[in-house]
Amino acid sequence: MSTQQEGPNIDYSDSRRITVAQLVDLLRRSTLAERRLIEDEACMAAMLKHADILATAWDGERLVGAARSLTDFAYCCYLSELAVGSAYQHRGIGRALISLTESRLAPGTKVILLSAPAAVDYYPKIGFTGHPSEWTRAKRPKTFS
Ligand SMILES: CC(C)(COP(=O)(O)OP(=O)(O)OC[C@H]1O[C@@H](n2cnc3c(N)ncnc32)[C@H](O)[C@@H]1OP(=O)(O)O)[C@@H](O)C(=O)NCCC(=O)NCCS
Repeated sequence: MSTQQEGPNIDYSDSRRITVAQLVDLLRRSTLAERRLIEDEACMAAMLKHADILATAWDGERLVGAARSLTDFAYCCYLSELAVGSAYQHRGIGRALISLTESRLAPGTKVILLSAPAAVDYYPKIGFTGHPSEWTRAKRPKTFS
């Protein structure tokens, strides 16, 4: 699907593929790079390869926003990255990328995410409800003994 919404110059897609270099560049431009393993090319490639939904926003051929999700399409959808380039923020692109993601999900599917500190006030503003008992654990590195 490819649509144009929220301003004349931004195109949205949930089918365009992007490269690791494009993703890393966008993460840098959005400030989210500091919270992702951008130096680990294998990890970044796996993030793209295994994404179930990759919603993207384009200004011409320039990637200006992305929402990457893992989902079963019916019950839950983990929105792992939402990033909009600094020069394009506050133009409704983040909201549009989430809407495009949700358009791929069955009615009632829950979107789940962990907010970056800079975005904790963003999600309640666009209709997300906080949850007091979220738990995460990272698999130990192979070298850990
Ligand atoms: C957070 C982010 C994705 C929002 O995208 P965006 O395209 O700028 O947001 P939108 O234009 O859709 O904003 C919708 C509303 O939220 C507000 N908003 C945007 N960013 C906000 C923030 N960081 N904190 C609080 N409110 C915010 C907007 O002002 C807008 O309000 P309005 O409708 O009253 O004008 C984007 O700013 C970003 O990429 N930030 C850096 C990376 C990051 O922190 N990502 C989130 C990882 S969990």
